[in-house]
Amino acid sequence: MSVNILKLNRPIWLMRQAGRHLPEYRKLRLKKKNFLDFCFDHDCVVESSLQPVKRYDIDCAIVFSDILVIPYLLGQKVSFIREIGPSLEGLSFKKLLGLKKCDYKQKDLDNSYRAIRKIRSLLNKNKSLIGFCGAPWTVACYMIDGNSRCGFDSSKESIKTRKNQLEILIDKIVNVSIEHLIKQYESGCDTLMIFESWASLVDSRNKNTILYEPVQKIIHGLRKRKVKAPIIVFPKGLGNRITDYITNVNADVFSIDYQIDIEWAIENISKDIVLQGNLNPEFLLKGGTKLEEEVLKIKRSVGNRKHVFNLGHGLLPGTPIKNVHRFIEILRS
Ligand code: CP3
Repeated sequence: MSVNILKLNRPIWLMRQAGRHLPEYRKLRLKKKNFLDFCFDHDCVVESSLQPVKRYDIDCAIVFSDILVIPYLLGQKVSFIREIGPSLEGLSFKKLLGLKKCDYKQKDLDNSYRAIRKIRSLLNKNKSLIGFCGAPWTVACYMIDGNSRCGFDSSKESIKTRKNQLEILIDKIVNVSIEHLIKQYESGCDTLMIFESWASLVDSRNKNTILYEPVQKIIHGLRKRKVKAPIIVFPKGLGNRITDYITNVNADVFSIDYQIDIEWAIENISKDIVLQGNLNPEFLLKGGTKLEEEVLKIKRSVGNRKHVFNLGHGLLPGTPIKNVHRFIEILRS
């Protein structure tokens, strides 16, 4: 049987480990002008996914891709502007609801699945390979607002004023996400992760229909199709509402963000639940004694409990390589 994240002993990896903080990535990135062209190039994906594992000998590789390949696949124009971030074509709700999976764009995704096969063949058998997608609400936020500059006002407004339409859009995202995750699994990913970066924007009255049920549908869809990979979810920004999330979502691992106090989490979340996280990426950026203290605090708090060491959000672009080495060294000593 192949490895997966739950079979590894005290695994360590870092959200957004591939990418801008690595000089070898920046060099490779020059091969393509557009970010999505890079994400759909077989060789670029293979190399960038393996770069952090080669450099740090960490326990997991994550497929180099982005959560916004789903709107791209549905036919919405997606671009990435340097220093600013993603920018999606502005579409009315009517247009969003009319989007359909484009066959000719599926070919781009197929390159990414071929790359997964290659990564798996090159990656040490004792290391896990993580495939991923965005959670439906988070992906919908980018599709509706186009970017994050206005705090996703239109998306939040749509919960109040056109919830039915929003739910139809979310369902569309659910269905393509299931297919996308299944293909990643069949191509060699042993672990799958769902990023809900904007969970905090949904109020308690709407959490069931907007946050929990769509993610549950993805998980059920995967299990029905015999996908056995453990599923990690990362609902960012919920604070102590994370316990309600854990009760309602059937994932195998819950990634907790850096605003959640690890001691609180260990006390308030059942020992049977596997947690991932939650070092503040700022500490990794700054290094020094604060980094050491915080890493040791997490190590001490989790004790013997099964845990996946990671950050509480993505690694920041300016993070020095020596700090990452130190982080891993402290954890392994
Ligand atoms: O190491 C890895 O995790 C690489 C794979 C990966 C990327 N994006 C590559 C990327 C993953 C797992 C993501 C997830 C992602 N993408 C999320 C969820 C996690 C989170 O950070 O909350 C979200 C919200 C996105 C959307 C997105 N893509 C944004 C907001 C941006 C711009 C800002 C940024 O993070 O850099 C991107 C672009 C992007 N995705 C880059 C990378 C390496 C930088 C683009 C470049 O190199 O030019």
